[in-house]
Amino acid sequence: MSNWQELERKFIMNTVNRVPVTLVRGEGARVWDEDGREYLDFVGGWAVNSLGHCPPVVTEAVTEQVHTLIQASNQFYTVPQIRLAELLVSNSCLDKVFFCNSGAEANEGAVKLARRYGQRHLNGAYEVISAIGSFHGRTLGMVAATGQPRFQEPYIPLPAGFVNVEYNDVEAIKSATTEKTCAVMLEPIQAEGGVNLPDENYLKMVRDWCDQKGILLILDEIQTGIGRVGTLFAYEQYGIEPDIMTLAKGLGSGIPIGAFLAKDRASVFVPGEHGSTFGGNPLACAAAYAVLNFIIDNDIPRNVRKVGQYLVDSLEGLRRKYQFITEVRGRGLLVAMEFKDDIAESLVTACIDKGLLVNRLKPDALRFMPPLIIGYGEVDEALGILDKALSGIG
Ligand SMILES: Cc1ncc(COP(=O)(O)O)c(C=O)c1O
Repeated sequence: MSNWQELERKFIMNTVNRVPVTLVRGEGARVWDEDGREYLDFVGGWAVNSLGHCPPVVTEAVTEQVHTLIQASNQFYTVPQIRLAELLVSNSCLDKVFFCNSGAEANEGAVKLARRYGQRHLNGAYEVISAIGSFHGRTLGMVAATGQPRFQEPYIPLPAGFVNVEYNDVEAIKSATTEKTCAVMLEPIQAEGGVNLPDENYLKMVRDWCDQKGILLILDEIQTGIGRVGTLFAYEQYGIEPDIMTLAKGLGSGIPIGAFLAKDRASVFVPGEHGSTFGGNPLACAAAYAVLNFIIDNDIPRNVRKVGQYLVDSLEGLRRKYQFITEVRGRGLLVAMEFKDDIAESLVTACIDKGLLVNRLKPDALRFMPPLIIGYGEVDEALGILDKALSGIG
């Protein structure tokens, strides 16, 4: 164990089982550890480094902004925030934006907005229906929204106002809907819960139900948004539009920023009802503007579709080779590989030894969420390493 890892034990709360690698530098899809070892990074800051590590467009935008204006109170107008909001609105189906600093904070804000809508338009309805197997963040409210007992049990009692129902089951949403319901909140594809894809027409049926009941549909696109699944936003692939959408992760390609967007009719906050000191900070917004502009101008979602398909096809090749691989599933560059047994941990270790970082999604599954700018060569390299790791297990 390196000195840094010993110091971590001494000074940092023990909330995560870290992989024994201390990263000190990154460039594109590669990172280096303290001993100068190079790794191909298919974790990508946990689906965050959309343009890879230290992308020049971001470092340039941040460098310029850091010499211009880093932070200003939201009492004042700031240009990067307004420019980014305009870019998000003109490239989505939503009309208004609120900026914050993380995914959980974006979802909290979205739920507050839905409750405010409920107070104004739905006789005080406040309950949000979310799905079992979802992941919406670590605040108390979002732990209640997250339909997974392992995140909830340590914090009981949880805040009221959340109902968790089966994913991919519109009837479950219908049965849970009462006069207290103000919104349904879903990830279009459940990412942390296992890269679970929605069944054909599920999201359309949920949208129809929300319309029928006059309740809001919140889509948590924190992991699926900003090109990750091959379109700028996942909703585009399912023929629906949310009333509220949340973003974070890939939006800043590593610079912390979150946002929630809403249709005009759902944008019911008035001054003083919500806020964030750092939300919409000029530095973060300048970075996110550079990221989003680059993704749109260079049609990065197209690269994601092409390379994502190549990744899935290549993983399918491995599935045919190794009997103990049971399934490959995903969209774009959010892909999981599942096994008969709990071998994900040893595979992660074997891949690290050979220079590849991958995520242990579950004891029996790996997840691949590399930067959106990777090419076929990087997929070939990663799959070569994974093949060797799998052959060592089998
Ligand atoms: C779909 C989804 N929502 C919310 C979050 C929480 O985001 P954050 O960790 O930035 O609070 C995550 C994080 O993995 C996520 O995948």
